[in-house]
Amino acid sequence: MNIAVVGAQWGDEGKGKLIDILSENMDVTVRYQGGNNAGHTVVVGDKEYVFHLLPSAILHKGKVCVIGNGVVVDPQALIAEIDDLKKRGFKITSANLKISGRCHIVMPYHRILDALRESKRKNKIGTTGRGIGPCYADKVARCGIRMVDLLNPRLLKGKLEDNLTEKNEIFQKVYNRKDFSFGDIYKEYCDYGKKLEPFVCDTALYLNEAIDSKKSVLFEGAQGTFLDIDFGTYPFVTSSNSIVGGACSGTGVAPTKIDKIIACVKAYTTRVGEGPFPTEFQTGLKEEIRAKGNEYGATTGRPRRCGWFDSVLVRYSVIINGINELAIMKLDVLDDLDELKICVGYKYKGKTHKDFPMDFDVLNEAEPVYETMPGWKTKTCGVRSFAKLPKEARRYIKRLEELSKVKVKYVSIGTKRSEIIVL
Ligand code: IMO
Ligand code: MG
Repeated sequence: MNIAVVGAQWGDEGKGKLIDILSENMDVTVRYQGGNNAGHTVVVGDKEYVFHLLPSAILHKGKVCVIGNGVVVDPQALIAEIDDLKKRGFKITSANLKISGRCHIVMPYHRILDALRESKRKNKIGTTGRGIGPCYADKVARCGIRMVDLLNPRLLKGKLEDNLTEKNEIFQKVYNRKDFSFGDIYKEYCDYGKKLEPFVCDTALYLNEAIDSKKSVLFEGAQGTFLDIDFGTYPFVTSSNSIVGGACSGTGVAPTKIDKIIACVKAYTTRVGEGPFPTEFQTGLKEEIRAKGNEYGATTGRPRRCGWFDSVLVRYSVIINGINELAIMKLDVLDDLDELKICVGYKYKGKTHKDFPMDFDVLNEAEPVYETMPGWKTKTCGVRSFAKLPKEARRYIKRLEELSKVKVKYVSIGTKRSEIIVL
């Protein structure tokens, strides 16, 4: 059975924890898009691990992790992540980590361009500043540098020369910034190539062969549906397809091979960076939920914006991603609330929208239509079965299920591996 996990909101839904749990029973886990803009947190015992490029399954012995062709790799960040895990006692070899030769590489000029573009924009996106957007832009503009190029110094030389000819002119004339040195970058990236070479292969072939030999593959989505370049709240999105469709183009595995799709959602909603967020808290709850849920970006440390659960948003995700099961994460963060609200529509100029609107003005100015439910005012972290949850919590989950029109399979009530209820 091959399973894909996607985020159904604006990222940070708790995908890392779910992947860590599911991957124990899977043979291979593959990241298919995004880059080190992602921050997937896994807590094991009293230790916390945050993954940016490595799949969150890497902590399990005997499992294979793959970085698919759809991922953009910053080699410096990847090598740092590998070295850090090695220091913490984990073995990372070509047997348990495979990187696609087709991955596009984040270059120093991508990171700087990301920051410069943001600084010039009036309507800032609030990117993570990791060079992700400019790297994907070069991929589409057909001037990107790929992992295989790092293993071929002659090819790398030609591509880097062409890039710097163009980029240095832009940096000078548009941004009034000094030139990038060919020699420095060339040497640095040749060295990265040597370090990463053992892991590089045709991961599309590897994954398809694994599936043919009845191994199970878990597809790990990064970001979330509303950060997707096509379906997100454009332009406040990331530059890849974070919906499940990206799992196919980002790995070379056909849609017919994915058997189940699970969406991760928080029991409320958060967003980092700019962009519309209809159910964002306007009151003191903002700070309360942020503190209880430790809602700070795992990549940039920025405080996350927090709000009520938005069923209009999640229902749209369920449709776009063909979701089979929902995983509701961080329910425990709501334990102390007297009452909870669920958004069931958006009111704009006298009209109620039940489907997620494309129009920016509607998203920005709409008045959310809420249903209010009583809170449970009880700690849930020790609960291990749905039946043992307080009845108000069960009612809340059942209502989310009805509104999303998909069954809830997991409810997470804490950060630890054991703090999960399987329905
Ligand atoms: P995980 O995988 C939450 C957001 C940024 C910004 C927008 C564009 O941990 O859920 P980018 O650097 O990608 O060009 O920034 O996307 N963003 C995320 N928000 N979780 C993430 O990843 C994110 N990755 C990018 O904050 O608004
Ligand atoms: Mg994150």
